[in-house]
Amino acid sequence: MHSYRVAVIGAGYVGLTAAACFASLGHHVVCADVDESKIARLRRGLIDIVEPELAELVAESVAAGRLTFVYGAPAAVVDAEAVFLCVPTPMGEGGMADLAAVESVTDQVRDLLPAGTVLVNKSTVPVGTAARLAALVGRPDVAVVSNPEFLREGSAVRDFLNPDRIVVGSDDRVAAERITALYARLGAPTVLTDAASAEMVKYAANCFLAMKLSYINAIAELCERLGADIGDVTAGMGYDRRIGPSFLRPGPGWGGSCLPKDVHALLRVADATGFDFDLLDATLKVNDRQVERVLDKVCAACGIAPGGSLDGVRLGLLGLTFKANTNDLRDSPALAVARALRERGAELVAYDPSQVNTDPAVFGELLTLVGDPYQAAKDVTAVVLLTEWQEFRTLDWGQIADSLAEPVVVDTRNHVDPDVLSRVGINWYGVGTAPRL
Ligand code: UGA
Repeated sequence: MHSYRVAVIGAGYVGLTAAACFASLGHHVVCADVDESKIARLRRGLIDIVEPELAELVAESVAAGRLTFVYGAPAAVVDAEAVFLCVPTPMGEGGMADLAAVESVTDQVRDLLPAGTVLVNKSTVPVGTAARLAALVGRPDVAVVSNPEFLREGSAVRDFLNPDRIVVGSDDRVAAERITALYARLGAPTVLTDAASAEMVKYAANCFLAMKLSYINAIAELCERLGADIGDVTAGMGYDRRIGPSFLRPGPGWGGSCLPKDVHALLRVADATGFDFDLLDATLKVNDRQVERVLDKVCAACGIAPGGSLDGVRLGLLGLTFKANTNDLRDSPALAVARALRERGAELVAYDPSQVNTDPAVFGELLTLVGDPYQAAKDVTAVVLLTEWQEFRTLDWGQIADSLAEPVVVDTRNHVDPDVLSRVGINWYGVGTAPRL
C-alpha cells in the first residue's frame, strides 16, 4: 500500500485520533495545533484527552517515526499530499457553526500548499463550506474534499479504525479517490459523493441520532404514565432491523460537544432556506425538557411536590461528564441537572470517575467534588446517578445504603440493577419504568 504524507491540523479529539490512526495505517503524519503548550506536552508524550488506546497509539507512532507534532499549521503542510482540517466549529451566533478556525487555517496555508495537494475538511461544517474553501484557496492545483468524521468520544480510536462507512465528497473525483486510498487498509464501505452531500451526511446522521434519543425519552415518559416498561419496549423495538438496538437508552438528555451544536446548526441552515424543520425543532424541545423531568423525579423520590423547593436537601451526584468513558464536561446533561438542582436550593456533593478538573474553581458554588462514590453518598437524602460509568454498577450498595440519610437512588439512565438495590433496602427510581420500592 502506498504510504502518504499527511498533515493534520488540530490536535483535539478528532485531529489527534486521526493523526495517530493514519500513522498506524502506515502514513507519515505531521500534526499541528495553535496551542503551543499542547504541542510541547504532546512532544513529551503527554495527552490531555482521556481516550482508550489513544496514548498507546500516539507513543507507538512517534517511536516508529511516523508521527511528529509541530506548532502552527504552516509548518505542517509544506510537504503534505493531503491536509486534514480537524479544527473546532463551535456553536456561533444564533446557533450557526462558527467557521473562524477553518477559514483562518485555510487562509494561513493556501499559498504554502504544494501543487497537487488535497485539502480535506473533517470538521463539521455547513453544506457549501467545501465550495467556500475552494474559493478561498483559489488554486486550480489544490482540490478540496469533504470527509466527515463519525467517531464517538470514548471509543474514538476503535471507531476510526473500524468505521461503519467512510464518506468522501468532492467535485474532483481524482482527489476524492486519493483520499479514499488513505483508508484502503480498513476495508470499510465507502460512499463517494459530491462535496455538499458529504457535508450533509454528517448533519443528517447526528441530527437523526438526536431525534432517536428524544423520541425514546418521550416514549419513556409515556411508559411511566401508562405503566409500561421502557426496557422491554426498546428491547422489542430494537430487534426490528429497520430500527436497530443501539441509541435507544433513555437518559437525562443528549449532550456533548457535537449533537446539540449540530442540531442547532441544521435548524439554522434549514431556517435560512425558508424550510420549517419542525421535526428537528421538537427534537430540541423534548431534550430541553429532560432536565425538568429529572428534577420532578428527584422531588417525587424525596417526597417533595413537583416544582417545590429543595432548600437544604443534600444530594449525592454520581457522574458529571456528558457520558461515560470521557472527561468531557461540554454540554453535559449531568451539569445541567446539577445547575437546576442548585437553583432550587439543593446542596450537591458529586463524584465522577474521570479526572475531571479538580480545581474547586471549576465548579465554584455549584457542588463539592469528592474523590470516591461512597463519600458522595454519605448523609445525603438521595443519590442521583447521571452518567453511565461501568463502576457504578458494581459499587458496594450495602455500604451506600448504610450511609444514606434516606434509602433513595434516582437512576436517570436505568444503569444499576434495581434488584441489587432492593436487596439492601434502597428505593430505586428509574426512567420509563415503575420505581422499585
Ligand atoms: C456523536 C456521534 O455519535 C458520533 O457519530 C459523531 O461523530 C460525534 O457526535 C461528532 O459529531 O463528532 P459523541 O458526541 O461522542 O458522538 O457522543 P454519543 O455517544 O453520540 O452520545 C451523545 C449523547 O447521547 C450523550 O449525552 C449520551 O449520553 C446520549 N445517549 C447516547 C443516550 O442518552 N442514550 C443512548 O442510547 C446513546
